[in-house]
Amino acid sequence: MSARRVTGGGRLSGEVRVPGDKSVSHRALILGALAEGTTEIDGLAPGADVRSTREVLRALGVTIEGPGSHAAVHGRGLGGLAAHGGDLDAGNSGTTMRLMAGVLAGHPFLSHLTGDGSLCGRPMERVAAPLRAMGATVELTATGTAPMTVVGGRLKGIDWSPPVASAQVKSAVLLAGLHAEGRTSVTEPVPTRDHTERLLGLFGVAVERAGTRVAVDGGSDLRACRVSVPGDPSSAAFWVAAASLLPGSALTVRGVCANPARVGFLRALERMGAKIRRAAAGEKAGEPVEDWTVSAAALRGTEVAAREVPGLVDEVPILALAAARAGGQSVFRGLGELRHKESDRLAGIADLLAAFGAEARVDGDDLRVAGGAVLRGAAFDARGDHRLALTAFVAGAAAKGTTSVSGAECAEISYPSFYADFAERLK
Ligand code: S3P
Repeated sequence: MSARRVTGGGRLSGEVRVPGDKSVSHRALILGALAEGTTEIDGLAPGADVRSTREVLRALGVTIEGPGSHAAVHGRGLGGLAAHGGDLDAGNSGTTMRLMAGVLAGHPFLSHLTGDGSLCGRPMERVAAPLRAMGATVELTATGTAPMTVVGGRLKGIDWSPPVASAQVKSAVLLAGLHAEGRTSVTEPVPTRDHTERLLGLFGVAVERAGTRVAVDGGSDLRACRVSVPGDPSSAAFWVAAASLLPGSALTVRGVCANPARVGFLRALERMGAKIRRAAAGEKAGEPVEDWTVSAAALRGTEVAAREVPGLVDEVPILALAAARAGGQSVFRGLGELRHKESDRLAGIADLLAAFGAEARVDGDDLRVAGGAVLRGAAFDARGDHRLALTAFVAGAAAKGTTSVSGAECAEISYPSFYADFAERLK
């Protein structure tokens, strides 16, 4: 395990481009594999999660050319993946496992999906249940976790109303729906990120959308296309928060996906008094793209409602850090889903803030952050969770003294160059 050290007192300046969006990258590879023809993708996310999707697709007979951020995916057509006798390893990636379960449910052979210790502790019944209702056989461990065995078959379209708001569940059902007979719909309790729907449109599939309901027809062929992946707002969030917190900072983050279902954290930070100038910068992969110029600001506490959480679910750690430095109390409501991320992130956030001398309390599914903290450098273990590692590093930059983040290498999951990029812009 490697540790990263950072000392407080600096400010951020200049410009930065964040890696390609992780959610869009997974989906572009998967839809490319299901399409007829060759899909050219550029700007792919560089981290280990997207590599897991790439390798799982390769194991299923898909030829994917090109290392790094470019890929040419030679699609095998709907239902055209080839059986793989061994384990399909999703690594640390929930998106890989859940979306691929949906795809494999439409293939008439046995597949065995597995992952690392963290992924094998995360709930999978939420995807298994709808896929079984469509006609697939899905087996999990007694606790409803991976390894997962999927025997796909002749699926029938369903109308599914998942109890939890999850873009991964919605996407798994829609991907299975492409392989099913008839129409498949998903009605969500609260809208989640809609990258699958937008990308399906780019691949020529008609998607019907009304309110929180989305539907696709089985058997709609996908046409290969070009996909240019916009920057990842979840990675950009660390820069936006850091530039807000470090006095004297002025930083521009360029080319970020500004999908309204992903930028809930910007809305929360703006409510807290953050100074963020948003400028439109075109469109990529059917997503709006923006440049964000951020300068340091005195923040105030806020309340984040449960219905806002899907729109900022991966940004709660960094928002909670901003809340710790803000004047006045903040409350984040309805964070139960954070217990099922790459770690128990709800407990992790409270421990992280406490380690830096801030006051935070988990109250049922809510998180209360006292605000007004003077952060002091700390030793923090990232517990294998990339979002906690980056949050602790930013906390260290905003704290008095020196911080050491152990297990910091898990940044490799989503943002391998973060520490080096940060050091370059820290004056
Ligand atoms: C993702 C959806 C979210 C998010 C994850 C990526 C996706 O998970 O936390 O990082 O790409 O669909 P849930 O669907 O479990 O909320």
